Amino acid sequence: APVCRIPKLRNTMKMKTLTKLIMPLALSLLTTADLGAQELIANVYGRETQSLNGKWDAIVDLYDQGRKNKIYLNRKPEGKTDFYEYSFENGLRLDVPSDWNSQTPELKYYEGTVWYARRFDAPKQEGQRQFLHFGAVSYRCRVYLNGEEIGSHEGGFTPFQIEVTGKVKPSGNFLAVEVNNTRTPDAIPAMAFDWWNYGGITRDVSLVSVPDAFIEDYFIRLGKDSADRIDADIRLSGATPGTAVEIEIPELKVRKTAVTDERGTATMSFNVKKLDRWSPAAPKLYRVIVSTGRDRVEESIGFRNIRVEGEEIVLNGAPLFLKSISFHEEIPQRMGRAHSEADAVMLLSEAKALGCNMIRLAHYPQNEYIVRLAEKMGFLLWEEIPIWQGIDFGNDRTREKAGRMIKEMVIRDKNRCALAFWGVANETQPSEARNAFLRYLISCCRSIDDTRLIVAAFDLVRFDRERQLFVMNDPFIEELDVVAINKYMGWYHPWPLTPDKAVWDVARGKPLIISEFGGEALYGQHGPADVASSWSEEYQAALYADNLRMFENIPNLRGVSPWILFDFRSPFRFHPTNQDGWNRKGLVSDQGYRKKAWYLMKEYYDKH
Ligand code: GCU
Repeated sequence: APVCRIPKLRNTMKMKTLTKLIMPLALSLLTTADLGAQELIANVYGRETQSLNGKWDAIVDLYDQGRKNKIYLNRKPEGKTDFYEYSFENGLRLDVPSDWNSQTPELKYYEGTVWYARRFDAPKQEGQRQFLHFGAVSYRCRVYLNGEEIGSHEGGFTPFQIEVTGKVKPSGNFLAVEVNNTRTPDAIPAMAFDWWNYGGITRDVSLVSVPDAFIEDYFIRLGKDSADRIDADIRLSGATPGTAVEIEIPELKVRKTAVTDERGTATMSFNVKKLDRWSPAAPKLYRVIVSTGRDRVEESIGFRNIRVEGEEIVLNGAPLFLKSISFHEEIPQRMGRAHSEADAVMLLSEAKALGCNMIRLAHYPQNEYIVRLAEKMGFLLWEEIPIWQGIDFGNDRTREKAGRMIKEMVIRDKNRCALAFWGVANETQPSEARNAFLRYLISCCRSIDDTRLIVAAFDLVRFDRERQLFVMNDPFIEELDVVAINKYMGWYHPWPLTPDKAVWDVARGKPLIISEFGGEALYGQHGPADVASSWSEEYQAALYADNLRMFENIPNLRGVSPWILFDFRSPFRFHPTNQDGWNRKGLVSDQGYRKKAWYLMKEYYDKH
């Protein structure tokens, strides 16, 4: 994968920091065992795939004995004195894709290792290469095929793949995946986060088959500052330099060819006529076909321009106000992680009903069904990796992991024109280590895609009593295209003055988004509108009205995103009746019922 360029070194960065920064980057290039260094096949859903979804056998390995006892060999007793204290047959079976927590009561809070296993056939196909592709496994895993460890991956929200050409047999392949979701201080996210620590093979698993020489990756987009020039970079794998590659966009009467260079990459730029640029109001997608030799892949791609001009966010040349909402990748009624197209329909339909034109996919890359359907339905997207409180910014390995995760996110979704913002952090505190870490993440994003806006969410706005203004002091915001603020006025922060007098002087000269605001209410619980502990719908509605009034006093406000669309599960929401393990900031309850505040937000969006 393209290397993150080392962020421009500032004179404040001492040699030791420089070494600390360069060494892990160099090391990460040297190790290929870590799958993140492998390329990802673009558009897996547009390829020839054999689904490996379904019921898998499973073993709960609480004390991590399985690897030591090599249970991935799946041995069976032969002689009379043989015995094995495990078997994958006739035991626990778990759905894939799905988290394990929602499948059996015993696994609701489970943090540890679970082994998954299944058999599959792979009929021999001459001149083809095969890859095992995982949409995501939470949080880390090792993969074993026919008794051999073939790869590992860390990161619960991005895809990875393992080439198995020549390793798979025509029938009876035994695939075992050792999955572990134990939180660790050096992980992303780290030890405590406000969502459920779902574990498991949480997204689709497929066996992908491609020709020996195939289209491994492509990035096809409208030139950053052009309304009619399409730029395309296509990379082949297994082909000799000088191989011809073709792009076709029938509706635009485009058929262009280029040849690959010594790195297997072909680059094209061409102008088109009568292009309908994508927007939330008109989410136009074009059928794009990429072909070379025996390989041909197609998908729907949209073309749009997104840029910042002063304090404006400009889409296709027009200033934009973002009517956003967040949701976790979770179906509350099922108390489980979302993973299917039907799940995506449920989540996005509720956002559409609210009148949104953007989704902040909190706090991690969500599955491709959600991303692709959001694009079709006309939502701009903000996607981020879970740089959530408590990240070990001084740890080189953590920084390297985060860089790999954000690259996997950008590589997977770079052809989704709905993606407008790459989020690099949520609620971090100023420090040189944090700054270096985030600069590295920004360089990772931009090393793959320099067409989108870089954003981060901060919770550093405070009320300055002398100036009677809401202000913020974190010079790092100068390195971002857009600044986002999480601020819970009326919930975590009592009002220091009435909302109509709450004026902000934050990040002037840049667009500002309110990326989180809100408060909790238990659906159906009614009570005084001025008592927070009532957890009443009336209190939440009054809180929304106050915040919406304050937003009128933020001169560079260019979007709002209430926290959050649905009540969601969180292990540190302890109140036994008001919360019971749920964060109740949803505008919609865990059973899908709209609270009073939902209607205020709907009215606000209808007016903007
Ligand atoms: C934070 C955080 C969210 C969290 C929210 C809350 O701002 O970004 O992930 O759920 O506050 O406290 O409800």
